[in-house]
Amino acid sequence: MPRSRASTTAWASSPAADASLMHPFELRTERLVLSAPTPDDVEAIHEHCQDPVLSKYIPAITQPYTLEKAREFVAFTERGWASGEELTWGIRADGEFVGVISLRRVTADDIGFWLGAKHRGQGFMPEAVHGVLDWAFDPANPLRVESVGWECLTGNMASASVARKCGFTFEGEGAGRRPDAGGEHPLSWRGRIDAGDARRVKAGWPTA
Ligand SMILES: CC(C)(COP(=O)(O)OP(=O)(O)OC[C@H]1O[C@@H](n2cnc3c(N)ncnc32)[C@H](O)[C@@H]1OP(=O)(O)O)[C@@H](O)C(=O)NCCC(=O)NCCS
Repeated sequence: MPRSRASTTAWASSPAADASLMHPFELRTERLVLSAPTPDDVEAIHEHCQDPVLSKYIPAITQPYTLEKAREFVAFTERGWASGEELTWGIRADGEFVGVISLRRVTADDIGFWLGAKHRGQGFMPEAVHGVLDWAFDPANPLRVESVGWECLTGNMASASVARKCGFTFEGEGAGRRPDAGGEHPLSWRGRIDAGDARRVKAGWPTA
C-alpha cells in the first residue's frame, strides 16, 4: 500500500521539548486520525475490549472488561501524556474509534497496539505504526528517538506481521519485558527498528 508521510499537529509549535511537559497531539495518515483517547471513547473501548483475542494477547485487558476498566484506561492514558512516559493515541477511521496505539518511553521506546475485531485485516495498524514512527524519527522533532522496540507473545502472527511489514528487524524470542497478570514474564517475540532503517521487510521473521 502506498504510504504518505504522517502529518502532525501541535507538537512542532509546542513549547514542550521536555517530555515531562507533554501535551497530547494529533497525527494524521492517509486514512486515519490518531488522537488521545477521551472520556467520549469509553463506550467504544469497552465494546472492543469484550473480545477474548485482545485479552489473550494483551495481559492488561482482563475479562470481565467493565466500563470502569475502560474509564481507568482513559485516565491512565491521560497520566501517560502528562508525564510523557506513555503516549497513547486512539485510532480513528471515518470518525470511528477503531483501536489504540502507544509509544512507551519508560526504559526504552516501545510500541504497542490493538484494533477492534471488525477493523482488522485492512492494513490500519501498519498505517498507524508508520505514522507514529514518522513522528518519532523526524529529525525536526525535539522528542525524536533513535530506536523503537516491539514485542508480542510468541505466536501472535498478526502482531508480528505488522512489525515485519513496517520494517522492524526480528530480534528473537525470550522472556517478555512486561509481566503478565500472574507476574510471569511470558515467552515473547521481539523486534526493533532504528531511525535510519529502511521501512521494508527484513529477512528472519517467523513464518508460523
Ligand atoms: C495485531 C493487529 C493490531 C493487526 O492490525 P491490522 O490492521 O489488522 O493489521 P493488518 O491488516 O496488516 O493484518 C495483519 C495480519 O492480521 C491477520 N489478519 C488479516 N485479516 C484479519 C482479520 N480480518 N482478522 C484478524 N486477523 C486478520 C493476517 O495474519 C495479517 O497478516 P498478513 O497481512 O501478513 O496476511 C490486530 O490483529 C489486533 O488488534 N490483534 C489483537 C491485539 C494484538 O494482538 N495486539 C498486539 C499485541 S503485541
